[in-house]
Amino acid sequence: METLKGLERNRNCGEIRKIDEGQEVQLAGWVSRRRDHGGLIFVDMRDRSGIVQIVFDESEIGEKSFDKAETLRNEFVIGIRGKVRARSAETVNPKMATGEIEIVVSELRILNKAKTPPFYIQDGIDVDENVRLRYRYLDLRRPEMQKNIMLRHRVTKIMRDYLDANGFLEIETPMLCRSTPEGARDFLVPSRLNPGQFYALPQSPQIFKQLLMVSGFEKYFQIVRCFRDEDLRADRQPEFTQLDIETSFLNQDDIINLMEGLIKNIFESTLDVKISTPFQRMSWQEAMDRFGTDKPDLRFGMELQDISEYVKGSDFKVFSSVLESGGQIKVINVEGYANIPRKELDGLVEYVKTYGAKGLAWIQYADEGIKSPFKKFYSEETFEQIKQATGAKTGDLLLVVGDKASVVAQALGELRLEMARRRNLIDANKLCFLWIVDFPMFEYVEEDKRYKAMHHPFTSPREEDVEFLLTAPEKVKANAYDIVLNGVEVGGGSLRIYQSDLQEKVFEAIGLTKEEARAKFGFLIDAFEYGTPPHGGIAFGLDRLVMLMAQRKSIRDVIAFPKTQSAIDPMSHAPSEVDEKQLRELHIKSNVKKVVS
Ligand code: AMO
Ligand code: AMP
Repeated sequence: METLKGLERNRNCGEIRKIDEGQEVQLAGWVSRRRDHGGLIFVDMRDRSGIVQIVFDESEIGEKSFDKAETLRNEFVIGIRGKVRARSAETVNPKMATGEIEIVVSELRILNKAKTPPFYIQDGIDVDENVRLRYRYLDLRRPEMQKNIMLRHRVTKIMRDYLDANGFLEIETPMLCRSTPEGARDFLVPSRLNPGQFYALPQSPQIFKQLLMVSGFEKYFQIVRCFRDEDLRADRQPEFTQLDIETSFLNQDDIINLMEGLIKNIFESTLDVKISTPFQRMSWQEAMDRFGTDKPDLRFGMELQDISEYVKGSDFKVFSSVLESGGQIKVINVEGYANIPRKELDGLVEYVKTYGAKGLAWIQYADEGIKSPFKKFYSEETFEQIKQATGAKTGDLLLVVGDKASVVAQALGELRLEMARRRNLIDANKLCFLWIVDFPMFEYVEEDKRYKAMHHPFTSPREEDVEFLLTAPEKVKANAYDIVLNGVEVGGGSLRIYQSDLQEKVFEAIGLTKEEARAKFGFLIDAFEYGTPPHGGIAFGLDRLVMLMAQRKSIRDVIAFPKTQSAIDPMSHAPSEVDEKQLRELHIKSNVKKVVS
């Protein structure tokens, strides 16, 4: 095998330009593609910086070296010496950053050979994601993946710089924690030294960062792994990364301003786009009413509108029974789509059912007249009123769902997104930031017949609502805020409770007795008795933020080694069974029957 000795690289492949013409360069990298043209061999050579074309000309390099170049295969690792040459006008490749030049090779060293990779190492491949994850080290060699990971690095670097400049300290918190039921299920780690006892991996550093405020650090941040044993989706991983932040003595506006400055900084210095601040703010209730979700995508309209008052008191049982039981009838207007094929409508009925709606109705304001499954129950005038009220025009399609508010919100909210995708209404280059504020403090959990904290139980209630904590918890709003970008919740936080008596009241409101609260969060309650400053913070989902910045659909594309939807790593085969001996040491017995394969 050959080495780079004496041929140490002095330039990066992707950075060579026309002004370098005539220079001798030494490059190291991978063979991305090889084309033979008789006495000429062209190779696309790749390193982290990009791709450059190198040329082996038999008449210049000599037969022996040329024969060696013929043995090159994709993904061989090579080092070369060569001269930069301008390409002739007709051979310039405007799609490549280095497309105006090529390198005429005078020396080739083969540093390593490679097996034929299971897929092409290039952008835009159509390969099953499991295969990509099984060979992740090759998948990550693809330029678009390298770009994502480099962007992620830039983002965290800017975060650190910005927060440092604003007086924040980066402080690490434990990974082996006490299990404190937060939202999701914990990942547990058995303690060998304490048989029968378990650590939990942190769902977030929430309690520790609050304790750091008690300790007087005033401004904390951490780029930190969090672990949640949840059902996975495209924007959820069992381990993910937060930019976690906590501050003392700041109010909600101070925190929001600081964070807007951070976001502006990140986007402007990595993507070179102008971000205007302040971001729009919307109350949780308004978001639910207008978009059916607390993370609305504001890149397009198609808002939910209530038509209950126009359709009430009729013989149409579906609507009248919904309204009698306190529900609502709402619509979205899919503009210009009155001629939707019947088959697609039938499909939409099934679509909303997956979100809990019992059915879907519609009004087609077609050129040839109105079409609707409930046409016979209402007068021409009613349909005209609905048209006026919703701003629909002839040619438009209204999709209608009636149910209790939460079901209407979910079904129509999802349908809104689906129709926007189908009708191509989403401008991928738009960035719509939004703060959702005035969250309800609690949500009622039907199956447990009790209230639970919507954010977490350390979130402070609005001062003016404190009196309702125990009498009318549904009225209480929290000092909580989420930041939404293009329909994705990229962060969330709150001002915290810092007085023990208020904290106790909140525990009581969610049905935790003093003893239970003490058993779960005793150390925090104790700490709060030693002079706790008013404090609050936020956490950003780093993976989600970078996913949106890189315009990817899955956070897996911006994580070097992610898990599949079923929480598996197809490359290292984690999770796996462990030795009997390991289990014995941990005093653990599995009752899962071994599958003999
Ligand atoms: P929260 O639970 O809202 O708040 O989490 C903050 C942000 O983390 C991201 N996120 C996830 N990303 C990928 N995979 C997951 N499974 C996942 N879960 C959450 C989201 C979310 O907005 N301690 C509080 C913050 C605070 O109050 O300061 C917390 O963890 O983008
Ligand atoms: P059904 O009585 O279930 O046959 O429904 C009659 C019509 O009402 C159907 O064609 C549907 O279009 C519509 N429909 C049923 N349930 C709902 C609902 N929850 N919301 C809106 N429309 C509905």
